[in-house]
Amino acid sequence: MSELSVNHLLGIKYLNKKDIELIFKTADHFKEVINRPIKKVPSLRDITIANLFFENSTRTKLSFELAEKRLSADVLNFSSAQSSVKKGETLIDTVNNILSMKVDMVVMRHPNPGAGVFLSKHVKASIVNAGDGAHEHPTQALLDSYSIREKLGSVVDKKVVIVGDILHSRVALSNIYALQMQGAEVMVCGPKTLIPKYIDKLGVKVETNLRTALNWCDVANMLRVQNERMDISYFPSTREYAQQFGVNKVLLDSLDKEIIIMHPGPINRGVEITSDVADSRQSIILDQVQNGVAIRMAVIYLLASKIKQ
Ligand code: NCD
Repeated sequence: MSELSVNHLLGIKYLNKKDIELIFKTADHFKEVINRPIKKVPSLRDITIANLFFENSTRTKLSFELAEKRLSADVLNFSSAQSSVKKGETLIDTVNNILSMKVDMVVMRHPNPGAGVFLSKHVKASIVNAGDGAHEHPTQALLDSYSIREKLGSVVDKKVVIVGDILHSRVALSNIYALQMQGAEVMVCGPKTLIPKYIDKLGVKVETNLRTALNWCDVANMLRVQNERMDISYFPSTREYAQQFGVNKVLLDSLDKEIIIMHPGPINRGVEITSDVADSRQSIILDQVQNGVAIRMAVIYLLASKIKQ
């Protein structure tokens, strides 16, 4: 039987192409399950999973929780705002206390890049990174590629532009790794100040003109400006950003071909994308959310089957 090459999902960087193919194949099966009248399988009845969220989240947290429940795992939810972290407890102590209650897997979102890797070296549980600062967000990139594959048949040779705040985005980095591994061409587009200096090393194209970028691509993945990670101003005003880097319907309709619009959420309507674009026929934003549950079921199922061995 095929299995993942890793015991944790810490980043796309640690996966290989076969891992991604296995996750997608498993997600295909779970997607069929969640469309049945009884959307649940008993696979993980003997597994307990703790969701540790040290940073805000709506979609990702709900999506992981639903994925775990649809696999019949026992689920614990922890959010740092209401916890003893505020009383000075360290990350390792917090997690070891949770693990002593016989928890098998930890899904963690944390503001510090590398928090998942650190934890995986110090505690005995399978770790799933649900976003570590501006570093990686592997399940988001997996569900993004899975949604492209579903819409266009394959990711191979597809041209994908990631637009917006590349500098502060874990979604961008994980998407770049995942798309390149599967043979897609990747471009980033945004104000120069929001494109990291090390971008050349990632082997992606860089474009500062949005129309040129959109005319090049098959798929545009629109990112939110991550104001919460900014300590200085990276562009003059939100209005100017929207004018230069926001997609509106007039721009979309004037392109050479029909492209696909994606967004990881949360959307700032009227900034990176207007409502009529977000809700248009070309947008697959809600398919991404739906596929997120199947992808997370697949990741958790495959990691749990390694714990059970
Ligand atoms: C993203 C995140 O948290 O990194 N959202 C998500 O997980 N769906 C992107 C963002 O916050 O803009």
